[in-house]
Amino acid sequence: MILDTELTNPLLQWVLHKENRDKFGNIMPNHHTQGSPLGFRYLHNPSPDLLASGFPYSEVRDIADTMLEHYDLYLDSEIEPNYGYLISYSEEGHEVHPHRDANYYGDGPDPTQREYKPKYWIGDVLHCRLNVLISKPEKGGNPIINKLEHGIQENEPWLCISGAHTHSTTKVEGSKPRILLSLGYFIPTAIVEAKGWFVRDTER
Ligand SMILES: [Fe+2]
Repeated sequence: MILDTELTNPLLQWVLHKENRDKFGNIMPNHHTQGSPLGFRYLHNPSPDLLASGFPYSEVRDIADTMLEHYDLYLDSEIEPNYGYLISYSEEGHEVHPHRDANYYGDGPDPTQREYKPKYWIGDVLHCRLNVLISKPEKGGNPIINKLEHGIQENEPWLCISGAHTHSTTKVEGSKPRILLSLGYFIPTAIVEAKGWFVRDTER
């Protein structure tokens, strides 16, 4: 599936507007071998400032619904609380080193809710991310999941069971930025297993 540019273009234009990046982007220091990208977290949660800037919340909701339907997941699937819906904007030289994401409230915005679990802990839910590059670099920026590189196209979604599968990226090359829209969910482990996306016995 390739997402319609009509659906993704309002978001792309918002991110390409440097004033929005300067005002709302945060340096994301974790998991990056080279080049810290600008991150925009909790985009599922409308903020007055972002609304005033013209952030296209309704289009993001439409993209989310389209991707959830594509993967046959409930439209009201639980949004994961540590990053939620996020955008990562990066330029030439950036790459993400191999890591997994937490399957529990590890570093969300409310410190009183944080839980402390062993690394790679898997419980009743798995951190799953529905991803799409709304701007794909001239070269690189591909996802690597369980050591396998996926040659995806611009606007072509992919699914990463990021709480179970080690993931990273290839290095961004060229002048075109990499802009990732990543929608995080906590999906019941039983559902992820039933879909064959994760095999507990061999991977735990
Ligand atoms: Fe990750």
